[in-house]
Amino acid sequence: MPFKVFLTGASGYIGGSVLSELLKFPDKYTVSALIRKREYADILQEHGVTPVFGSLDDAELLTRWAKESDAVIHAADYEHLCAVQAIVKGLKEKEDKGAVFIHTSSTTGIILPVDQPASQTYDDMNMESVKSIPRNLPYRLVDDWIFENCKDITAAIVAPSVVHGIGSGLFNKISIYHPGFFKAGMERRRPGLVGNIANQPNVVFGNVNIHDLADLFQIVLEESLSNTIESEDEVRFYFGSAKDHSWVEFAQAVGKILHNRGLVDTIEVSQFEPEYVDKYFPGGDLSFIWAGDSRCVANRSRKIGWAPKYPDIFGTLEQEVNYVLEKSKIK
Ligand SMILES: NC(=O)c1ccc[n+]([C@@H]2O[C@H](COP(=O)([O-])OP(=O)(O)OC[C@H]3O[C@@H](n4cnc5c(N)ncnc54)[C@H](OP(=O)(O)O)[C@@H]3O)[C@@H](O)[C@H]2O)c1
Repeated sequence: MPFKVFLTGASGYIGGSVLSELLKFPDKYTVSALIRKREYADILQEHGVTPVFGSLDDAELLTRWAKESDAVIHAADYEHLCAVQAIVKGLKEKEDKGAVFIHTSSTTGIILPVDQPASQTYDDMNMESVKSIPRNLPYRLVDDWIFENCKDITAAIVAPSVVHGIGSGLFNKISIYHPGFFKAGMERRRPGLVGNIANQPNVVFGNVNIHDLADLFQIVLEESLSNTIESEDEVRFYFGSAKDHSWVEFAQAVGKILHNRGLVDTIEVSQFEPEYVDKYFPGGDLSFIWAGDSRCVANRSRKIGWAPKYPDIFGTLEQEVNYVLEKSKIK
């Protein structure tokens, strides 16, 4: 019998690609997916997915579907503690230590602003290191709640770094991270950086191809369901991070692509003016995410067989630019 998997965020970039990955294994998984938009239902059903109408605020619904499922993958809003609590409640009601919860977190919490000393490299094999990640962003409280409250189920946290590439989902196929660089660059006719360029050369950030990340979720799910993960840690933590990039190199690569297409007047990068940051880099004060330093190594992910193999962040840039141009109908 296939395992019953309940997925949140299935219309999103990460959740959509995770969904496509699960659908490759019809003998292993049947999938139900939380969606807010009724227009997505037919498309999901065509792919054999059961749509569940509702939002993360529908606690009773989440609890019921979690209880009816063997595993829940939560790839919607990672700050929504009440939704996580409702899902975990349902899984606990199964009274089965084998009930699986996989939560999507992030590496953004390990960012240090560029004017701070170089940040340390966090290692997902070292839980002391993981638990020392600063609590400067709200989603870290959700991670903490999971660490404290999921010891009687099989729980895992997957924390991706900057995810890149065109996703394989049915709906949103692009990450929030990159379109701002393209759009702001085109509008001011010059490629740019969010941070102060003078401080940037040594600032690096982890990244992962969306297809490698979807693989990681599938591997963590498979291992969790089969209880073969060897770990002393009650709640396991996996970084989804394959390589590092510097923001300067990234902005320069964007500049070359846009310049080749006549969409900027120069390849010289400069700091985006505040109006472009406000317009194209969501999150207000969180815009430091696009200018920060965040280093991690995914040793635990690799230990369970994850071997990233898809193109790196520079290898997917051209496709991302094409996608954004197509969406905004700029040629
Ligand atoms: N992209 C990255 O590089 C990255 C890296 C690390 C962590 N993350 C985190 O991973 C999570 C997913 O990211 P993403 O890039 O896949 O984002 P996304 O493309 O915007 O997808 C978000 C998904 O969550 C759903 N959702 C959001 N709020 C909801 C609510 N209240 N009720 C029901 N569904 C809700 C959305 O549904 P609708 O379609 O109805 O809006 C969509 O399916 C986010 O928490 C994000 O911060 C992302």
